[in-house]
Amino acid sequence: MKPANSILSGYGTTVFEVMSRLAIEHGSINLGQGFPDEDGPADVRRVAAEALESGPNQYPPMMGLPELRQAVAAHNKRFYGLEVDWQGQVMVTSGATEALADCLFGLIEPGDEAVLIEPLYDCYLPIVRRAGAIPRLVRVTPPDWRLDRRALEAAFSDKTKLILLNSPMNPAAKVFGPDELALIAELLERHDAYAVCDEVYEHILFDGRRHVPLMTLPGMAKRCLRIGSAGKSFSLTGWKVGYVTAAAELLASVAKSHQFVTFTTPPNLQKAVAFGLAKDDAYFDGLAADMQAKRDRIAAGLKRLGFTVIDCQGTYFITADFRPLGFDGDDVAFCRHITTEAGVTAVPVSAFYQSGDVDHFVRFCFCKKDELLDQALERLTRLFG
Ligand SMILES: Cc1ncc(COP(=O)(O)O)c(C=O)c1O
Repeated sequence: MKPANSILSGYGTTVFEVMSRLAIEHGSINLGQGFPDEDGPADVRRVAAEALESGPNQYPPMMGLPELRQAVAAHNKRFYGLEVDWQGQVMVTSGATEALADCLFGLIEPGDEAVLIEPLYDCYLPIVRRAGAIPRLVRVTPPDWRLDRRALEAAFSDKTKLILLNSPMNPAAKVFGPDELALIAELLERHDAYAVCDEVYEHILFDGRRHVPLMTLPGMAKRCLRIGSAGKSFSLTGWKVGYVTAAAELLASVAKSHQFVTFTTPPNLQKAVAFGLAKDDAYFDGLAADMQAKRDRIAAGLKRLGFTVIDCQGTYFITADFRPLGFDGDDVAFCRHITTEAGVTAVPVSAFYQSGDVDHFVRFCFCKKDELLDQALERLTRLFG
């Protein structure tokens, strides 16, 4: 038999799957997986349910329902002051994952280079490679996750087609600061490159921080493709509704990719997300405040246990250094240990790097009910306390 595509079949079982299976086997509280255990707003879900009943349930327009594209454009204006033409510059996708794939397949020519910043969300590298680009990796590492100017400059060349930027960043919970965004913008101009901006956590920033899309920097509107996700903004990760905002010339190529892959996204969900994006500020502020309270809860508990907790500026995730607990092993061994011995599962941060020495940090997901977070902390206290 002829082999399947070697790039994709080369990816074996991930450590995420291994840990999740181990968690099920041991009845462990799984703080490895990144999804909320409470569904998002009832009114948004009601709009989806009603639209399913009333229809139509046939193929919606390829670029997305006009009302959702208008809502995405209005959201861009309301939160970031971006002037966006909903007809030419917005496209709806089946989740941010599809949006990422569309952007990368739509832009990359085999032989192009793509700059990626480790730690990497898991789908980035396989898609970049499958699209034919040569990945140029730069890393930020805990505890400060600082982007090094020289390293980033060295990763860019005249072959650079794009950078993939995830801010707020999973798993680092880092929000890229003004200097870092300015540096990226400078390099994009210098090398005539694009930025695919994964901004799915745009509404989950803490301590009064506000999200600043790279697209809002001078000269960047024509170079950036900004991706959002209703899954994260409305705690409805199973819906898989995403949206891309980009200059019309860029979006045209990206739309081809979408056209030949999914073509559309369920119309009732699009309708509901359009309704959700128009919700008042109290909703969006409340989402960040709720997640911040959960962050504070788990951070305090982990600190009490002796972990060194790394600054968490946004997202669903918090990173902790377990060395002060005296555990003698790497992060994968630590995650196995707490799964089997305490009944709590986390994921090793080394899994987000291709190689290297970041091997004593673990990521806990905290978008869970307070009772579950408390229970996980109690279990860890029984083991380490
Ligand atoms: C950084 C990042 N990008 C994209 C996604 C996927 O988003 P969606 O579920 O909308 O495809 C996730 C989900 O965890 C994520 O953390």
